[in-house]
Amino acid sequence: MPNSLLIKKKIREFDKKISVSGDKSISIRWVLLASLASGVSKAQNLLISKDVQAAISAVRKLGIKVIIRDKFCRIYGNGLNGFKYKKNLTINAENSGTLGRLILGFLINTTNPIKLVGDQSLSKRDFKRVSDPLSKFGAIIKLKNKKNLPLVIQGSKNLKPISYLEKKGSAQCKSSVIFAGLRTKGTTIIKAKKSRNHTELMCKYLGLPVSVKSNKNYDEIKVKKVKKIKPFDYKIPSDISSSAFFIVLTVLSKNSKLVIKNVNINHSRIGVIQILKKMGADIVFKNQKTYKGENIADIQIRGGKTLNAINCPSKLNSGAIDEFLVIFLVAAKAKGISYFKDLTELNQKESPRLKWGNKILNKIGIKNIVTESTIKIYGNPNLELKKQIIIKNYLKDHRVFMTGIIAALSFGGKWEIHDKDSIKTSFPNFLNIINELKKND
Ligand code: S3P
Repeated sequence: MPNSLLIKKKIREFDKKISVSGDKSISIRWVLLASLASGVSKAQNLLISKDVQAAISAVRKLGIKVIIRDKFCRIYGNGLNGFKYKKNLTINAENSGTLGRLILGFLINTTNPIKLVGDQSLSKRDFKRVSDPLSKFGAIIKLKNKKNLPLVIQGSKNLKPISYLEKKGSAQCKSSVIFAGLRTKGTTIIKAKKSRNHTELMCKYLGLPVSVKSNKNYDEIKVKKVKKIKPFDYKIPSDISSSAFFIVLTVLSKNSKLVIKNVNINHSRIGVIQILKKMGADIVFKNQKTYKGENIADIQIRGGKTLNAINCPSKLNSGAIDEFLVIFLVAAKAKGISYFKDLTELNQKESPRLKWGNKILNKIGIKNIVTESTIKIYGNPNLELKKQIIIKNYLKDHRVFMTGIIAALSFGGKWEIHDKDSIKTSFPNFLNIINELKKND
């Protein structure tokens, strides 16, 4: 099959230092906020992937100049009212839930209706979760089947602040409402279940009127109308979600060692590390520092340690939400029965990932029991594969593809994994790094 990858043998031990690409969540937030700044902002190490390119195309459609040259991206913001809301505008969020949901917050004051479309996967995902709160500000949003893309948003000049309870632990919903609140007179009050907080940290760094009171499980966020966003430069740290594939590959590889440089280890993102450490993995942070409110470190992993099953506390879910497919691979090789619960959100991603977790485990012969929100995984520390495995028809979910590659390199067998291009969404450099690690072979 063209565009599929064949893997026929396990990776040999490696001892390497690598860098992965820029953080996707921060890259998209930087593009959106810089596009409304008064002046030129510059980013270094911006993730150049399809999701971020879709964000750049979206702000260009809104009349904002963006130049990508060498390792830099420059965005020429025209101030808070700098978007040109032309007639018959269509914005394509392609595969990106983050772009699709976050940009709606900023489009809340559009004077002409704007159509938002996405690819096949994004068109299946739930947009009611953002259109409900955004409509309360006074925008009119019409969705396909009352839930999906394409949608049309018609903004309002008389936006009213809202009170919003975000119960899913979705940073996309929270951020969309924060952005809408920044365009609205009065105080918008959000009570949000804990989730990644890059939007809040960026707003704090920029001195925007967003205050956060942290409670144990929920944050109380107050947002007022912003007067001006100053242009801001950003050196984007590496993405922990992209790092997670190599963290797991190392954890599952005897005698291997890996250092991943300059990774964002924001507390709301390190669920994967907390979970793997509880299972017995040897992972340490080195050279920790703070950058514009974000925590950054080199991550050092030593592989081949004894891995134990976990009864995963659900408070770790949100911080590991994009990493569960690879976490399941570690559970497959651990001693004992692992249990993960409260994971309905996993089926709301680019593909239904809890279902895909179950399918991949079945394919590698690991007994597991899945429901709509839980999975029980019967680990086998002696897992070794010889059979042929094909991974296809998974809605081109980049994380399913990369999980397949890590499973193939860790457990052996003859794998055929389709839709290689899916990695362009979040991590175009993924296979180059895999090849770097294989160089000892
Ligand atoms: C993201 C939030 C998460 C995550 C996604 C990126 C963000 O989605 O899965 O990959 O950048 O805000 P939810 O907000 O739907 O949990």
